[in-house]
Amino acid sequence: MEAFCKGLSEIWENRWLTNNGPLLQRFRNRLGIFFETDSLCLFNNGTQALQIALRGMEISGEVITTPFTFVATAHALTWNNIQPVFVDIEPEYYTIDPEKVEAAITPRTTAILAVHVYGHPCRLNALADIAKRYNLKLIYDAAHAFGMKIEGQNIAHYGDVSMFSFHATKLFHSSEGGMLVFQKAALKETFDFLKNFGFKNEIEVVSAGTNAKMNELQALMGIQVLSYFQEIKEKQKRIAELYRSRLQEVPGILLPPPPCLEVDYNFGYMPIEVEREKFGITRDELYKRLKEWNVFARRYFYPLICDYLCYRHLPVKDPLPVARRVADRILTLPIYDSLELSDVETICDIIRDLHSMGEKGRVGN
Ligand SMILES: Cc1ncc(COP(=O)(O)O)c(C=O)c1O
Repeated sequence: MEAFCKGLSEIWENRWLTNNGPLLQRFRNRLGIFFETDSLCLFNNGTQALQIALRGMEISGEVITTPFTFVATAHALTWNNIQPVFVDIEPEYYTIDPEKVEAAITPRTTAILAVHVYGHPCRLNALADIAKRYNLKLIYDAAHAFGMKIEGQNIAHYGDVSMFSFHATKLFHSSEGGMLVFQKAALKETFDFLKNFGFKNEIEVVSAGTNAKMNELQALMGIQVLSYFQEIKEKQKRIAELYRSRLQEVPGILLPPPPCLEVDYNFGYMPIEVEREKFGITRDELYKRLKEWNVFARRYFYPLICDYLCYRHLPVKDPLPVARRVADRILTLPIYDSLELSDVETICDIIRDLHSMGEKGRVGN
C-alpha cells in the first residue's frame, strides 16, 4: 500500500499519465527480465492484445480453437472477421485435443488458437508438430498461465505468440492489462503501431490501428504486484494443496490429476467437477448452496462459447462430448492469496456436508 502510494506520487510528479511513460517502460523492462525476452508488448487488456496479435500476424479464414474458454478468445477472432472452428477438449486438463485439431483442418485454416485453461499447459509438442506440418500459425491464449514454466522454460516461449491477461481476477494483474510475448522480434513494431492508432511518428500513420495502450496507473499496479508474485504463488499453492487433500476423497468430486513434475504451476484456479450420481446433488445445486454460505464459486466455463446466442449460427462439426460434459459439471472454487486456510477448510466441510445431505436425500427418494 505504502509503495503503491509512493508510486502514485511519482506519477503525479512526472505529469505523465499514458503514452509510453516512465513507469510503463520500467514495467516492460521488469517483465523482459522475468520472461527473459525483449519480444513483448503491453496493452490495456488481454482481449485487445489478442485482437492485435491476430491482426498483426494477418490471420484470416478459419482458426481452430476451443469452446471451453472465456468468451474473449472467440471474440478476438470474430472482431478480425475470422471464423472460429470449435473442437473438443481433453478430459484431464480441459485443453484442446490435438487429434481433433488435426481432423478439423481445411484449406481455409490459417492458425490454431489454443488456451492454457486454468494454467494447465496445452499439449505443446503435439500442437507444434501439427502447426509445422500444415504450415499454420500457433497462438496461445495464456491468460491464465502467467509465471508457468515447463522443464524450466517459461510457457511464453512456446508457439508463435502468447497472450497474457493482467485482469484484476488473475493471479498476476495490473488492474486491467495484457501482454503479448512472441518469437519473431519484427512483430514488435507491428504490434506497437497497431496499439497506438498506427502512428509511426507525429505525421505518419502506417496501419489502421486502434487505441490499446497501457497507462501509467496500470503499470504502477503491475510493478507492485510483480514484486509479490512469488509470495502470492506460494500462498495459492498451499491453498490448492489443502483443497486437494480435503476434497480428493469426497465421492462425486473430481479433481484434475496432480501437477506434473516437469511443470511449475501458478495455482491460479481451483477447478472441480461435480458428478451428480455420486455426489448427490448437481453442480448447479452445489453452486447455489455454496452461495447461501457466502462462498462464491464460478461456473467457469459454462455455457460453452458455441452455445452463446452470437455463436449458435456457426457450424460445429465436432459433437464436443467432452467439452459438453465438463461445462455441465465444472465449478471453480475460491482461490486468492488472502484466503485463509481455515476458510478453505470450512468450504471443504460445507461441500462434504452437502454430499452427505444429498446422499440422505437420495436414500429418502
Ligand atoms: C482465457 C481468457 N482469455 C481471454 C481473457 C480476456 O482477458 P482480459 O480480461 O484481460 O481482456 C480472459 C480473461 O479475462 C481469459 O480468462
